[in-house]
Amino acid sequence: MTAPLIAVDRLTVERGGRPVVRDLSLVIRPGEVVLLIGHNGSGKSSLLHALAGLLPAQAGEMRWGGLRGRRRQAVMLQDGATFLSRSVTENVAAGVLGRFRPGPAKRRALEGRLMAAIPELTSKLQTPCADLSGGQRQLVGLGRTMLTDADLLLFDEPTVGLPVDVASRVLGTLCGSLVALGSAALIVEHNIDIAAKFATRLCVMKNGELVYDGALALLADRAKLRNIYL
Ligand SMILES: Nc1ncnc2c1ncn2[C@@H]1O[C@H](COP(=O)(O)OP(=O)(O)OP(=O)(O)O)[C@@H](O)[C@H]1O
Ligand SMILES: [Mg+2]
Repeated sequence: MTAPLIAVDRLTVERGGRPVVRDLSLVIRPGEVVLLIGHNGSGKSSLLHALAGLLPAQAGEMRWGGLRGRRRQAVMLQDGATFLSRSVTENVAAGVLGRFRPGPAKRRALEGRLMAAIPELTSKLQTPCADLSGGQRQLVGLGRTMLTDADLLLFDEPTVGLPVDVASRVLGTLCGSLVALGSAALIVEHNIDIAAKFATRLCVMKNGELVYDGALALLADRAKLRNIYL
């Protein structure tokens, strides 16, 4: 079995003085696409924040593996904010290269990759994000995270506001590239049917705990899923 990209061991995260992620252990390996589901308030976003280093852990530890020199993780947050006064290219460049205005060669290469991954943005590269629709801004957030090629890509409800065909294609492109790169993704989705087409594994959170970690086949058994979920 390949070495883990991340091994989370007995992680506890508090918000507002109470634990919202409790004693959670999780291992993610290269090539995996982990679909994380759970009710509103079950702790999914809090877990992603902790993995992205945006929330401190009160207990437990995270051990990172992955390729030396490559970025550990990149996250697309649930509210997916963009820099509104900046163009699509500038937003993606900021996420991927760490600056709004890279040199011409890097900029062309980045725009080429973005158009290949998300053709819907092709005619919008110079448009300020303020002038995009909500769904188009969502695509910018997706592209910005996808193109980082980090070891672990974290997505919090990436398909909100996208039509089913666009969501399926973008997730398909994303997941297809992970295997070649030896990276992995953790995707929080309420849109289970779309994400399940590409996921390799299912995790379920309830009240801050990981109550299921296993095969996607559980999704086909809605009665059993409901028992675990509710
Ligand atoms: N900034 C905050 N301060 C205090 N408590 C918070 C804060 N943000 C979230 N919480 C609480 O943490 C718990 C977990 O929230 P979290 O956002 O992780 O849930 P979630 O599973 O992502 O839900 P959803 O599906 O609605 O996005 C909830 O009870 C929520 O009220
Ligand atoms: Mg959330």
